[in-house]
Amino acid sequence: MAMWWLAILSLVGFSLAIWPLPVNQSMGTDVVWINKNVNITYSGPHVVGGQYARQKALTHFTRQSNNATNSTSAWTSRIINTAINSTYATLFEYGISAWKFNPRMSDFEPAPNASGNVYITSIQLQQNASDPADIMKPAVGSVDESYTLSVSSAGEVLITGVSSLGLAHGLTTFTQLFFSHSAGSVYTKLAPVEISDKPMFPWRGLNIDCSRTFKPVADLKLMIDALAYNKMHITDSQSWPLVIPSMPDLADKGAYVSFQKYIPSDIYDLQEYGALRGVQVVLEIDQPGHTSSIWFSYPELISAFNVQPGWTTYCNEPPCGTLNLNDTNVSDFLEKLFDDLLPRLKPLTSYFHLGGDEIDAADYELDPTVRSNSTSVVQALLQKFQDRNQNQLKQYGFTSLVWEEQLLVWNLTLPKDTIVQTWLSSQSAKEVVAKGYRALVGAYELWYLDCGHGADSAKYWPYLDYCNPLHNWKEMYSLDPIQDIPENQQHLILGGECSIWSEQTDSANFFQMVWPRTCAAAEVLWSGAKDASGQNRSQITASPRLADMRERLVGMGVYGAPIQMPFCTQNGTQCVWPLGA
Ligand SMILES: *[C@@H]1O[C@H](CO)[C@@H](O)[C@H](O)[C@H]1NC(C)=O
Ligand SMILES: *[C@@H]1O[C@H](CO)[C@@H](O)[C@H](O)[C@H]1NC(C)=O
Ligand SMILES: *[C@@H]1O[C@H](CO)[C@@H](O)[C@H](O)[C@H]1NC(C)=O
Ligand SMILES: *[C@@H]1O[C@H](CO)[C@@H](O)[C@H](O)[C@H]1NC(C)=O
Ligand SMILES: *[C@@H]1O[C@H](CO)[C@@H](O)[C@H](O)[C@H]1NC(C)=O
Ligand SMILES: *[C@@H]1O[C@H](CO)[C@@H](O)[C@H](O)[C@H]1NC(C)=O
Ligand SMILES: *[C@@H]1O[C@H](CO)[C@@H](O)[C@H](O)[C@H]1NC(C)=O
Ligand SMILES: *[C@@H]1O[C@H](CO)[C@@H](O)[C@H](O)[C@H]1NC(C)=O
Ligand SMILES: *[C@@H]1O[C@H](CO)[C@@H](O)[C@H](O)[C@H]1NC(C)=O
Ligand SMILES: *[C@@H]1O[C@H](CO)[C@@H](O)[C@H](O)[C@H]1NC(C)=O
Ligand SMILES: *[C@@H]1O[C@H](CO)[C@@H](O)[C@H](O)[C@H]1NC(C)=O
Ligand SMILES: *[C@@H]1O[C@H](CO)[C@@H](O)[C@H](O)[C@H]1NC(C)=O
Repeated sequence: MAMWWLAILSLVGFSLAIWPLPVNQSMGTDVVWINKNVNITYSGPHVVGGQYARQKALTHFTRQSNNATNSTSAWTSRIINTAINSTYATLFEYGISAWKFNPRMSDFEPAPNASGNVYITSIQLQQNASDPADIMKPAVGSVDESYTLSVSSAGEVLITGVSSLGLAHGLTTFTQLFFSHSAGSVYTKLAPVEISDKPMFPWRGLNIDCSRTFKPVADLKLMIDALAYNKMHITDSQSWPLVIPSMPDLADKGAYVSFQKYIPSDIYDLQEYGALRGVQVVLEIDQPGHTSSIWFSYPELISAFNVQPGWTTYCNEPPCGTLNLNDTNVSDFLEKLFDDLLPRLKPLTSYFHLGGDEIDAADYELDPTVRSNSTSVVQALLQKFQDRNQNQLKQYGFTSLVWEEQLLVWNLTLPKDTIVQTWLSSQSAKEVVAKGYRALVGAYELWYLDCGHGADSAKYWPYLDYCNPLHNWKEMYSLDPIQDIPENQQHLILGGECSIWSEQTDSANFFQMVWPRTCAAAEVLWSGAKDASGQNRSQITASPRLADMRERLVGMGVYGAPIQMPFCTQNGTQCVWPLGA
C-alpha cells in the first residue's frame, strides 16, 4: 500500500503546478515554449485597445493611469493591462527554474526539439460579460471571478472569464505552468491544459497591522502583489500613522516619528494599486478601545491612558486607553474624523472596519463621563456609540465590519448587512451566522501569523505569548470555514482573513512572517478545505505544490521561508513520516 502511494505521488508531484488548486484541471506531458514576442489579445464588451504587444500594453497603461475617466470600461482596461504586464514580468523576469522539483543531477529540462520547438503563438482573452459598475471596489457577490484556461499542444491559448478579474486569475494560473530554462527561454511540460475554476469564498484576506510597527507603502504594494498571486482579495490596516488633514495633530503627535505617516495620496495610491489587482484595501479604525494613540493629540478624549503599574486590569497590552464612552466631544471628534476620511476612501472601497474588539469594562470606572464598570451601563453606552458610527457609515454608503465581541460579547444590535470578523475561537463564526449575520473566519488559534514568537510582556520562563505556538502551514490548512455550519447558513460565511499583528514584525521580517504560510489559507478560501470526495485535502500532495509556489513568490521578491529542503522536493514524498519511512 505504501509503495503504491509513493509511486503515484512521485508521478503527480511535478504536474500539479497550480496554487490554489483549481476546481477542475487536466494536464498532459507535451512541451510548449513561450517568448516575449507573444501577442495577447482581448475580446469582450469593453474597449481595452484590441491587439497588444508588450510595449503597447505598457503605453496604454501609462495613458490610462490618469484617472480622469471613471467609466467601468476605463477600469476594466486598466485591470487587464495590469494583468498583462504582470504576466510578462512573472514569465520573463521573475521566472523560476525547476531543478528543486526534479531528481538530483537529473536532466530535468526539455531538450530543444530537432524538428523545431512549439511556441505559443497567441493568448486570447475572452470576456463573456460586462464588468459591474463597482469593479474597482466590488461588494461581496458583485463580481464573478470564474475563468477557464486552455493551452493546446500546438501553442494556442484561450482564457475566458466572466469579468476582468476572472481573466486576471486565468493569467495568474497560466504563469504557474511555466519554468525558466537555463538557456534563457521559458517552457511548460504540461500541455495540453484544460482548467475551469472559480473561488469557493468571495472574501479571502490578510489583515495587516500598520500601527504597532509602520509598514512602508512599497512593502504594502509588494504584499498586494503576493496576495493577488495567491488570488486573495482584501487587506486592512490600523492607525495612527494616518494623516487626517482636518486634524493634523492626530498623526503629527500620534505617529512614532515624523517620517512614519500615510498621507492621503499614499492611501489612494495603495487603494488604486490594489483595485487594479483585484485586492480591495479596507481600512480599520479600531474603537472605542485600542485608541491610546489619540491621547497624544487629544488627551481629554481618552480614559485609562497607559495605566502603570497594573495595566493588566485595563487592557491586554500596554499602553491601555479608550475613547470616553459618554462624551459629546468624542462624538464630535468621530464625526469630524469620518467626514474627512470616508469620502476619500469611498471611490475605491465599499467597506470600512469599525473595530470594537477587547473592550474592558474596568476602563469606564476611570472614564469621567461614565464612572462605572457595570456591564449593563457599558453595554447601553456601547450601543449608542455603535449606532452613531453606523449612521455615519450609512450616510456615506459604506458597509461595516466589526470584530466579533460587538455581537457575541456585548450583544449589540447591528445593521443586518454588518460583516462580523471572528478571532476568539473556531466556534465563533457558527454563533455569528446563527444570529443571522455574515461572518469572516480567522481564529487566532489557527490563522494568527504572529503567534509563537514569545511575549515581550511575559515575566516568567519560557516567556510564551498567549497564542503560542507558531501555527505552521499544515495547521493553517486544516481550518475549514464551514465546519459545523448548518447548510442553510453556509452562505453567510463570506470567507476569512489571516492576521499579522506586528509586535515583532516590521519591514525586516514582514514577508517571511506572512509567506508561504498564508498560501495555506489562500487555498482553503479559494478551493475549500475538502476535496471532491468530501475528505480533508491531503497535506502530502499539497506539500510539493506549495514548495513550487514558494519558489515563485521568492522569484517575485517575496522572501518567504522554504517549506522543505531540496532533498525532499527532489524526490516525491520520501521525507514524509511515516509514509515515506
Ligand atoms: C517536436 O516538434 C514536432 C513538430 O512541431 C511535434 O510534433 C512534436 O510533438 C515535438 N516534440 C516535442 C517533444 O516537443
Ligand atoms: C504579434 O503581432 C505582431 C503584429 O501583428 C506580429 O508582427 C508578430 O509576429 C506577432 N507575434 C507572434 C508571436 O505571432
Ligand atoms: C484619482 O482620483 C482620486 C479621487 O478623486 C484623486 O485623489 C487622485 O489624485 C486621482 N489620481 C490621479 C493620478 O489623477
Ligand atoms: C510592468 O511590469 C514591470 C516589471 O516588468 C514593472 O517594473 C512596471 O512598473 C509595471 N508597470 C505597470 C504600469 O504596472
Ligand atoms: C465563456 O463563454 C464560453 C462560450 O463562449 C464558455 O465556453 C466559457 O466557459 C465561458 N467562460 C466562463 C468563465 O464562464
Ligand atoms: C467542474 O467540472 C464539473 C464536472 O464536469 C462541472 O459540473 C463543474 O461545473 C466544473 N466546475 C467549474 C468551476 O468549471
Ligand atoms: C467638551 O469640550 C468642552 C470644550 O473643550 C469642555 O468645556 C467640556 O467640558 C467637554 N465635555 C466633556 C464631557 O468633557
Ligand atoms: C467611480 O464610479 C463609481 C461607480 O459608479 C463610484 O462609486 C465612484 O465613487 C466613482 N469614483 C470617482 C473618483 O468618481
Ligand atoms: C467593577 O469594580 C468593582 C470595584 O472596583 C470590582 O470589584 C469589580 O470586579 C469590577 N467589575 C468589572 C466587571 O470590572
Ligand atoms: C452620560 O452623560 C450624561 C450627560 O452628562 C449624563 O446625564 C448621564 O448620566 C451619563 N450616562 C451614564 C450612563 O453615565
Ligand atoms: C450576551 O449574551 C450572552 C449569551 O446570552 C450572555 O452570556 C452575556 O452575558 C451577554 N452579555 C451582556 C453584556 O449582556
Ligand atoms: C527517490 O528515492 C528513492 C530511494 O530513496 C529511489 O529509489 C527513487 O528512485 C527516488 N525517486 C525519484 C523520483 O527520484
